[in-house]
Amino acid sequence: METQEKSILRVVTSGSVDDGKSTLIGRMLYETRSIFEDQLEAVKRTSERRGQQEVDLALLLDGLSAEREQGITIDVAYRYFETPTRKYILADCPGHVQYTRNMVTGASSADCAILLIDARNGILTQSRRHAFLVSLLRVPRMVVVINKMDQVGFSREVFERLVAEYRAFVERLDLPDITFIPVSALRGDNVVMRSAAMPWYGGPSLLQHLEALPTTHTRNLVDFRFPVQSVLRPNQDFRGYAGRIASGAIRPGEPVLVLPSRVESRIKEVLLAEKSLEEGIAGQSVVLTLEDNVDVSRGDMLVRPHNLPLQTKRFEAVLSWMGEAPLETGCAYLLRHGTRNVKAVVTRVYHAIDVDTLRRTPAETLDLNGIGKVEVELASPLACDPFKANRATGSFILVDAMTHCTAAAGLILGTAGTLESLEPAALPEASPNTVWSPWNIPRGARERQAGHPGQVLWFTGLSGSGKSTLARALERRLFERGQRTMLLDGDQVRHGLCRDLGFSPEDRSENIRRVGEVARLFFEAGHIVLCTFISPYAEDRDTVRGLIPQGRFHEVHVDASVETCTRRDPNGLYAKALRGEIPQFTGISAPYEQPGSPELRLETDNVTPEALLAQLEAYLRCCGLKI
Ligand code: ADX
Repeated sequence: METQEKSILRVVTSGSVDDGKSTLIGRMLYETRSIFEDQLEAVKRTSERRGQQEVDLALLLDGLSAEREQGITIDVAYRYFETPTRKYILADCPGHVQYTRNMVTGASSADCAILLIDARNGILTQSRRHAFLVSLLRVPRMVVVINKMDQVGFSREVFERLVAEYRAFVERLDLPDITFIPVSALRGDNVVMRSAAMPWYGGPSLLQHLEALPTTHTRNLVDFRFPVQSVLRPNQDFRGYAGRIASGAIRPGEPVLVLPSRVESRIKEVLLAEKSLEEGIAGQSVVLTLEDNVDVSRGDMLVRPHNLPLQTKRFEAVLSWMGEAPLETGCAYLLRHGTRNVKAVVTRVYHAIDVDTLRRTPAETLDLNGIGKVEVELASPLACDPFKANRATGSFILVDAMTHCTAAAGLILGTAGTLESLEPAALPEASPNTVWSPWNIPRGARERQAGHPGQVLWFTGLSGSGKSTLARALERRLFERGQRTMLLDGDQVRHGLCRDLGFSPEDRSENIRRVGEVARLFFEAGHIVLCTFISPYAEDRDTVRGLIPQGRFHEVHVDASVETCTRRDPNGLYAKALRGEIPQFTGISAPYEQPGSPELRLETDNVTPEALLAQLEAYLRCCGLKI
């Protein structure tokens, strides 16, 4: 009974080959009495035979490794031990082969990550990679164990130097909580017991630290998500839905919504091993019964009506590639998400991430152990959450349809391009009875043919600020270099596509909406699209931004004072507006909302067009454009 109430802490460990990880884990198993006497005896004998002074606890793991489950393709060994207060599940990721793949597997559900650093060798590539993966997988806590302190004379200086060096690196990452502990795994200093050898260290031992870590608030207990695993119908009178509460909590009497059918009902009972609970919480495997006899099947998700996940056929994700065969865009994979299986296509690779330097690198595919940002398109909508908000419903696996092997682990970033969510208000409007189908030729293929990525450069600013002059000069440069371009200009589209629109706030919004859609079409055709519109409202500009994938939309604020523009007045419009002959003239009698954080701001009051063009080109080169 007592053990049932113990909390469980999931820990992932990794390190380089010789930094003493096996010894550390062996030491924890040994000192928490998690191994059998005969195992220990065997290890003692082997150590003596080899003439080792200390018992080599790393040998314990060699024995245990042989017990690993057969048939798994992922090389992560799970070890279990417990203390009087807590159970531990330790995912041990080998540091050498397939490191990334192993870490992603081991860390995706971990509460805490332990990284070992050899005090003599300092911080290695592997140590940096580890931090990146920990932050990517949003492991809520990280412990850096500086091991082999005995080999550096238990030096406070060495410890503090390594801490400072590592902190400097991880500052660039999104790591919420990080603790450093000086340890000698071989001698047992600060592993389970506090060590007398390092009086300068005032913190807890590794195990003391792990014992005190809270587990509850690392899980999402707010957003109730229940993927239905199976429908139980033992007889006519009972109908229950079995599954694991992926996140959140639920009580009898609370309203729920079934996805995707959107049928509403109420929870009648929350059953755990036939016991009726007052509340079911994340992590529990329960059976739910509903007040109404509604249609629910395996793969459906129960949620709260006022706390809905995304429901989308298209999203952006980070993939960690695990398959021997590289990723093939446009090829069908099976996406496994909770209890759902959906056909999926990776429509584009935005970039790969070099885990050693944290730099983005251009990529068209991902190879084994590669990590990259992609766009995924599904055959039918999936109820899911961004991984950032919900680790349980924000992750998925891609399975190779031919070999049935795991091809990739994925983390959902959010919806892409077409912003689709379950909230009716946010659903994109479409003509009735129309069905969206993917682009015939994926943009990636067009971009490869063009030899450059598609981009949208959105020039915003007052009339006369210099938008058109700049964009025209830039487009000519790009065109001369053989790049595919299109320039959309306010005065021009108002002679055709938007000739029915005036300059009221509503008409201006509609103008920008239409132009945004056109820009997107050219973008999808792989073009560098230059748009020059006053676009005075921030909201409208953001709407266009939302149509284009992150990193491809560049808001360029062409900034000049009203005085300057009035002085330039190329078409005499300011003069007319000042005489009251043009109503709602931007800058004179209509507002212009300054961009809060444009990608680029060009102040044009006192700068020559040539100098501005040079600034613009320098920015584009930074974005990876050949210019
Ligand atoms: S927006 O406000 O709807 O984004 P857009 O860029 O398409 O404007 O068109 C602006 C151009 O229309 C200006 O360059 C100017 O030549 C002309 N124009 C005519 N009336 C107005 C007005 N009331 N305010 C601003 N520009 C106007």
